[in-house]
Amino acid sequence: MNRDEKLKLEAYTAVDNQWKSVKEDPYFPGYHLAPPAGLLNDPNGWIQWKGIYHLFFQWLPFETAHGAKFWGHFTSQNLTDWTLEPIALTPSDSFDKNGCYSGSAIDADGKLTLFYTGNVKNEQGLRQSYQCTAESEDGIHFTNKSVKIELPEGFTPHFRDPKVWKHEDHWYMVIGAQTEEMQGSVVLFESADLENWTNKGIISHANQRPLERFGYMWECPDVFTLGDQEVLLFSPQGLKAEGIHFNNQYQSGYVVGELNYKKAKFTHGDFTEIDRGFEFYAPQTTVDKGRRILFGWMGVPDQNEFDQPTVKNGWVHQLTLPRELKLINGHIHQMPLEEMKQLRTAKTVNSKVNGTFSDSISRTSEIEIEGKMEKLTLFGNMEVSYNEETQLLTLERPSYVDGRIECRSCHLKDELRNLKVWVDHSSLEIFVNDGEEVFTSRLFANPENQSLAVCGEDVHLTVWALKNDTV
Ligand code: FRU
Repeated sequence: MNRDEKLKLEAYTAVDNQWKSVKEDPYFPGYHLAPPAGLLNDPNGWIQWKGIYHLFFQWLPFETAHGAKFWGHFTSQNLTDWTLEPIALTPSDSFDKNGCYSGSAIDADGKLTLFYTGNVKNEQGLRQSYQCTAESEDGIHFTNKSVKIELPEGFTPHFRDPKVWKHEDHWYMVIGAQTEEMQGSVVLFESADLENWTNKGIISHANQRPLERFGYMWECPDVFTLGDQEVLLFSPQGLKAEGIHFNNQYQSGYVVGELNYKKAKFTHGDFTEIDRGFEFYAPQTTVDKGRRILFGWMGVPDQNEFDQPTVKNGWVHQLTLPRELKLINGHIHQMPLEEMKQLRTAKTVNSKVNGTFSDSISRTSEIEIEGKMEKLTLFGNMEVSYNEETQLLTLERPSYVDGRIECRSCHLKDELRNLKVWVDHSSLEIFVNDGEEVFTSRLFANPENQSLAVCGEDVHLTVWALKNDTV
């Protein structure tokens, strides 16, 4: 048995041993993607290929810890029913032995081709990183792993997460990097044949206007056109909290502007956080049927993640729903895809609210509130409130570390008009004013608690029960 086969066997054994306790965990999602054992982090290789949606994920099957990551693999025909496929990549080669880190997927002459970072640590614990590829004829079995790019001068080995796309008749790749001056940056590479790559230089970094002192590392960059502009989406590390901004351990957000491919410069405005909740990181997008679709990781590294109560059942973290992005007045709006309507099983509430309305709802529900709601309380301990005077929307929950109430807030540009909330056992995705702001968070309320209370005047409330595969 070679190393790849051995690692796969060990991973499948871990899943066999763990799956029962994972799926019986009342916090396991009913319609979000989560690991069958161990730890899941970033969405990777997100693509629609030959009519099938492929979504890979960073995965450590053996324990709820970060380590030598595999690429797990889900496929779907309709974006709501997913199948866990055989493992796509194992950290089995000398150039990826400490992890097949994040990356992306493209169609290259009819082959599903993955780009990822090979993470290596030598005996002294020193890191090395390689940008690698693997390819597949059938979209399931990946072979021909090889290194395409080695670490260029001027950077530390924190050089990873290749996102590849085609522009005119060339291929381009952005890589999240740390310069030797310990600044976060994004580097652009170009290729005519996907074999030979030219380093075009840094397109944006952490110490130039309008960004200054903007972190020591930028992870998971993504560049795409949205509306008539270009977006650079990335996850900077090392930002200090400023009032209601940057309150998580690390952030994800974007700048809007224009990428000059020849000069390798992205001219852009200020950074906007793409999510306002407690758990969101490392998003990745693809394009399908003219729509720019994002998946994110519903977690944040180093943010007390191993205090989450699912750890005792052998799993941790999940992904978000797929969301369509739109650029409106230079600001990204996000909404779950139209296809998510297929998750609905029944309409369980349809009511006008004047004062306070209370009911009991499924822990897999979609909640729609039209109008200027004042407060939404879910499962006894999660609260979304709107202050009309300050136009501040606030999400509160008890911390899963010590039970103390913690909050995240954002200012709305206009009055609150509507709120859409997707609840899934231990998660919430809250879309405000048609997706102008989003709060993504885990919630570990008592699994038996199904209470909902909405407070407001002249508000309309609709609730649908959603698919719940885990019961
Ligand atoms: C982001 C990240 C990536 C890296 C991967 C490793 O969460 O740190 O930069 O490739 O996770 O799992």
